[in-house]
Amino acid sequence: MKENLSPTQLLSLDFYDGYVYKFLQDTAAGGDDRETGLYNYYRGRFDNRRGGLTEQEGALVDYLLSAFPPDTVFVHAGIGAGTVAGAIAAMGRSITGIEGDPLRLKLAARLRQSLSAVWPEVAARYTLVEGYFPEVLAQVPTGAGAVLFFTNFFATLPPARAAQIVASLSAFAHVIVELRTFMTMQETAAERDAMLARLLASGLSDEGPVIAEVAGCYFRRLQPRGNLKTREAAN
Ligand SMILES: C[S@@+](CC[C@H](N)C(=O)[O-])C[C@H]1O[C@@H](n2cnc3c(N)ncnc32)[C@H](O)[C@@H]1O
Repeated sequence: MKENLSPTQLLSLDFYDGYVYKFLQDTAAGGDDRETGLYNYYRGRFDNRRGGLTEQEGALVDYLLSAFPPDTVFVHAGIGAGTVAGAIAAMGRSITGIEGDPLRLKLAARLRQSLSAVWPEVAARYTLVEGYFPEVLAQVPTGAGAVLFFTNFFATLPPARAAQIVASLSAFAHVIVELRTFMTMQETAAERDAMLARLLASGLSDEGPVIAEVAGCYFRRLQPRGNLKTREAAN
């Protein structure tokens, strides 16, 4: 038998991909999409057999685990089913997932519970917070050691709400956004440049592109300038 899992930890993202795909298959068989939380985004993923963990998500998990120290607390805003959060927790790291849609949150809670049955330590490492970012900011880890990230975080946002989201990013030590899908869809390079310029103008420093090996996604790592100064002062 291959060693894909230990009693405490997941050892292979390929194993996790299959595990989550089967979880989604069982979920789809268990009721209609409104009840299961699989509607829209996840229905498309599932129908197109894009697996339990997409290539982009797998690369993101690899990146987060290698780029940040073990005591980092990750925060994922808009986790959906929590496929990334579950992988991070099963790999032995701490994460808080925020989800505003109650049915999606239920789906994420079921995946978390299913993972906890295999790796009991997931329950302590993976916290779910119901609500919309940034309203729930006070309920999630912030400050030094807290890394916020977003995947496929697009919606129709009134300008004031988008401004609130951008202003809240400085509460974290680092922020990773995917420029194509952050807040609004930015399909062209000019639109992605404009989104990046907006984030830099809000007081974030550009730490450069990350996960460049996956075609079609444009992850960017940013750091609040206040945090940069603190770190430089400490050196
Ligand atoms: C398109 S899905 C993507 C889910 C997941 N990030 C992924 O990439 O698989 C976007 C999710 O973000 C949630 N969402 C959107 N805006 C949010 C906000 N401000 N706070 C929390 N959740 C939000 C939606 O309810 C939805 O489940």
